[in-house]
Amino acid sequence: MKRLIITIDGPAGTGKSTAARLLASRLELPFLDTGAMYRAVAWRCLQNGAAFDDEPQVVQQAQQIHFEFSGNRLLIDGDDPGDELRSDEVSQSASVIATLPAVREVLVEQQRKLAGEYSLVSEGRDQGTVVFPQAECKFFLTASAEVRAERRWNDLCEQNPKLSKEMILEEIQQRDERDQTRKAAPLKPAGDAIIIDNSEKTREEVVNLLVEYVHRATK
Ligand code: DC
Repeated sequence: MKRLIITIDGPAGTGKSTAARLLASRLELPFLDTGAMYRAVAWRCLQNGAAFDDEPQVVQQAQQIHFEFSGNRLLIDGDDPGDELRSDEVSQSASVIATLPAVREVLVEQQRKLAGEYSLVSEGRDQGTVVFPQAECKFFLTASAEVRAERRWNDLCEQNPKLSKEMILEEIQQRDERDQTRKAAPLKPAGDAIIIDNSEKTREEVVNLLVEYVHRATK
């Protein structure tokens, strides 16, 4: 079978990861969560006291991490750090280190290496524009910032009752601004991406739509 690359890009909180995971499972393809790679670098910087704005130091942290696939999981130095990568501190720091061009270079190379010559679903911010411009199917998921804040608040309010929707909305808007205005690989849809606004769609509706597009594109 010919190699098939499907990319899913979009801002934080659009349900990209869930959609990409479900799509990959429906198509029986591996799934690459590239946000987890940026998060892993930020997490390592926090652990090792590296300054986020010191590009050479952050590059060094990125180069020392060993990424590998185990089934559909991305292992970081042989471990799945799970929820540790999803804290607010790591989220904010990841969007800062993601502005550094030399750090992106290291991770883009790693992403292409992990993909090898296989078919896959790859999810992030620059997968259709920079990492796999040759991808057969490119999607860009969006939703209003208010809807994304509401979804994230629903996910987090039990663990952290002090969090308000307003705080989350502000954080999402800050991350959007940083992701969209950075010089290196800013967040934007590829010219040939299919743009899906899922503000009013359920998870199942989104995945069904993606599957339908992929089948149409590969017929
Ligand atoms: O998708 P996520 O929230 O896990 O991503 C974490 C941060 O990493 C986000 O602020 C943007 C950045 N990122 C990126 O710049 N490029 C990617 N391909 C994936 C994520």
